[in-house]
Amino acid sequence: MTDENASTTIDDVLSYWDRRPCNIRHSTREVGTREYFDEVEARKYFVEPHIPEFAEFGRWRDKSVLEIGCGLGTDAVNFARAGARYTGVDLSPVSLGLARTRFGVYGLTGEFLCSNGEELSQALPPASFDLVYSFGVIHHTPRPREVIESARRLVRSTGELRIMLYARHSWKAIMIEEGFDQPEAQSGCPIALTYTAETVRELLDGAFEVVDMRQAHIFPYVIEKYVNYEYEPQPWFKAMPSDLFDALQRRLGWHLLVTARPV
Ligand SMILES: C[S@@+](CC[C@H](N)C(=O)[O-])C[C@H]1O[C@@H](n2cnc3c(N)ncnc32)[C@H](O)[C@@H]1O
Repeated sequence: MTDENASTTIDDVLSYWDRRPCNIRHSTREVGTREYFDEVEARKYFVEPHIPEFAEFGRWRDKSVLEIGCGLGTDAVNFARAGARYTGVDLSPVSLGLARTRFGVYGLTGEFLCSNGEELSQALPPASFDLVYSFGVIHHTPRPREVIESARRLVRSTGELRIMLYARHSWKAIMIEEGFDQPEAQSGCPIALTYTAETVRELLDGAFEVVDMRQAHIFPYVIEKYVNYEYEPQPWFKAMPSDLFDALQRRLGWHLLVTARPV
């Protein structure tokens, strides 16, 4: 896990995600087809069911949503289907191209911009979004605070920020530190920062005030089976009562889900 990001450039980050966009192997169907995108979505929300709960897609009907780091566009299509006016930004042209294709496949409307979230405020009109959403992105960029400042300039004063950051005090971070795991599916992720409740508040300081912060998501499956689309929990999780596993996810989940409002 990288906690030092000073020497890593935005081009390193772009190349990494362009080489293998996030969740690209969530389906074995032909990339870019409806069957492919359907399977990507089914797998993503099966493994990460907390995402729809956190995003509350239905809440953003007729509202303007900006997503920073939309990747393949799984959450993007759900905002658009729910009736949001959707704008998606990603650094990686390959990922963004797939998100665009996905909107075409489903006949959805959205705006897309290939850009660095650290430098967004010139590219889009100020105070124009009801929600700035960024799931699993800000901890991968060399200058996270710049993304927060972009978000602050672009969100309306009555709007919201919803972001997911990796949690420092988590099962996954322990596994990574002990050499049993790595932050992403593909090795060599240039930046994967982790945050505590305190460092989240420092990151947002003066721009947003935290309204809610919670932890979720321990990945329980045997990787060798998961890559073959089989979902067998590790024996130690299989033996665990589900209420105990849920408690563990709330205390040691990898995803720190933060809702904040502009100050
Ligand atoms: C882990 S993926 C998450 C994608 C998507 N949010 C999801 O949940 O599937 C991280 C994404 O953030 C993008 N990204 C990283 N740094 C960025 C930046 N500074 N500006 C815009 N996008 C960025 C990457 O290109 C990649 O698509």
